[in-house]
Amino acid sequence: MRVPRRLQHNCRQFTLPHLGGGGCAGRKCGHVDLQPAARRTLTGTTRMNIVVTDHSFSDLAIEEAVAARVGARILAAQTKHPARLVEAVADADAVITQFAPVNADVIAAMRRARAIVRYGIGVDNVDLAAAKARGIPVCNVPDYCIDEVADHTLAFILALTRQVVPQSRLVHEGGWKLVAPPASFRTLAGMTCGVVGFGRIGRAVVRRLVAFGGRVLVSDPAAAAEAIGAHGAEPVTLPALLATSDLVTLHCPSLPETKGMINGTTLATMRRGAIVVNLSRGDLVDPDALVGALDSGHVAGAALDVFLPEPIPAKHPILGRDNVILAPHVASVSAAAVQRLRTTAAELAVASLRGAPLPSIVNGVTTVRAVPA
Ligand SMILES: NC(=O)c1ccc[n+]([C@@H]2O[C@H](COP(=O)([O-])OP(=O)(O)OC[C@H]3O[C@@H](n4cnc5c(N)ncnc54)[C@H](O)[C@@H]3O)[C@@H](O)[C@H]2O)c1
Repeated sequence: MRVPRRLQHNCRQFTLPHLGGGGCAGRKCGHVDLQPAARRTLTGTTRMNIVVTDHSFSDLAIEEAVAARVGARILAAQTKHPARLVEAVADADAVITQFAPVNADVIAAMRRARAIVRYGIGVDNVDLAAAKARGIPVCNVPDYCIDEVADHTLAFILALTRQVVPQSRLVHEGGWKLVAPPASFRTLAGMTCGVVGFGRIGRAVVRRLVAFGGRVLVSDPAAAAEAIGAHGAEPVTLPALLATSDLVTLHCPSLPETKGMINGTTLATMRRGAIVVNLSRGDLVDPDALVGALDSGHVAGAALDVFLPEPIPAKHPILGRDNVILAPHVASVSAAAVQRLRTTAAELAVASLRGAPLPSIVNGVTTVRAVPA
């Protein structure tokens, strides 16, 4: 029996891009070393493999503990490189992925995978249709960080409306005065805030905004007007939201119909002096159009946890602005959220090995394909 020579990624250079560090992501150490495994069973002498394409954690001890309950093992490929992904997933019994592009080619290479599990809520790095065509369910972890992202959204919004970052910098640098004219300091009670997307996170943001006493508008084609009203907000169309809001915050997924929804044309319909907040996905906002609107003053400020591309390239014109708050895609983080994310992802992968029901399938697969014995 041939078994993988190296079961775990131990690269010392690797830190956490998702949690604010750098990271080799398979580029520097290139140590993907997954040999074809021999046939495995859950109960026999051979073992099933759960391949983690990439991850931003210091180890995979949580996942290994969950997999060990059924005698399965975790193999960390730690790559986002398409050719290496094809090789890494070929003999996987289940795949867990974080940011790696699990595209149609990678999915076509999966000879045995019973599920693809995303470490997170958004599944835009996985080709859902290709997985569905092959009968492979794709699962996310839908509820691990709702309060984290909603709190982070309010932190961004309040920092912008109260000039927290430039004011702090001025005092650190020895100053002691207002950093900007009083008109730049605003209160949420006096503003109209537009929330795009009324899912788990959008609803949590609405609850927080309503508590501050301002007017809150919501655009979500799938949300019932009554549910929005019950939260103390008003249902509107996206054009109405953009035209009326002092602040627009995005909480919908990256889909063909949402990509680039904030672009030169839609920014022009927004109120002069409006604020743009994005903690959803970077590709919802055209970065060049946003830079242009900030340069012209049409948009007064922005707060972005996500960007197109990530990481933001050095010298990108979005950088270095007092009125732009940036973060490296970390709004979901807390110790409890990360623990829950990793445990749930591993449990979903293990459930797929056992043929147990998967509670968070996002690509509509109900009948799991038969895999070779
Ligand atoms: N920054 C981070 O760390 C982080 C963490 C978690 C999630 N996210 C992002 O946040 C997004 C939302 O998360 P969630 O838990 O609320 O998801 P969710 O699935 O509960 O809700 C998404 C909502 O968006 C709505 N929607 C779809 N298309 C829309 C459109 N064109 N206009 C307006 N609304 C639309 C849906 O109807 C749904 O109500 C995720 O898709 C993910 O991309 C980011």
